[in-house]
Amino acid sequence: MALREVLQFPDPRLKRVSEPISEITDVIRDLARDMCDVMYDEPGIGLAAPQVGEALRLFVIDTEWSEDGGEREPKVLINPEFTRREGSITWEEGCLSVPDYTADVDRAASVTIRALDLEGQEIIEEAEGLRAVCMQHEMDHLDGILFIDRISRLKRGLYTKKRKKQLAAEAKE
Ligand code: NI
Repeated sequence: MALREVLQFPDPRLKRVSEPISEITDVIRDLARDMCDVMYDEPGIGLAAPQVGEALRLFVIDTEWSEDGGEREPKVLINPEFTRREGSITWEEGCLSVPDYTADVDRAASVTIRALDLEGQEIIEEAEGLRAVCMQHEMDHLDGILFIDRISRLKRGLYTKKRKKQLAAEAKE
C-alpha cells in the first residue's frame, strides 16, 4: 500500500489547530500505524497527524531507533498534554514538513506529558534532551506551529524565500 504523503511548508493545512480525539476507533488505529510507517520510511523520529493531513491530536515518536541499528519502539500519544516543562535547551531542529532546513530552537530541557495510548489507557511520558525536544516539536504541530515559527523573523523570511524559489523551480520541471 502506498504511504501517506507528508504535507510540506507552506501547505495551509499545517497551520490548523487539531481537534481532540473523542473515541479510539479502527480509523485512529490505522492512522497511527500509517504514521509509524511514514516515520520509519522518511526516516524521522516523530510525526504528528496534521503532517499527513489529519487535524487530530495524535503523534508518534521513536527517538531510539536508527537506520543502522536500534530497536524500533514507536510510541503513540493521543490527546497529549504537558504536565511539566522545566529548564531550557537549544537544539538544532529539522522537520519532515520543512524541506532542506534546520535551525536552532529554544525549548524546555525536560518535560512530562500525559496522554492516552491506543488502548485508551492513560500514559505518562517523562523525557529530556532530544526526546523532550521532539515531544515539544510534535506538540507544536497539533497547534499549527512549525519550528520555523519559533526562529527569528529574519531567518524565517530567508527560508520562506528559498522555499518559494524551490517550489517555482519544481513547477517548471
Ligand atoms: Ni515536524
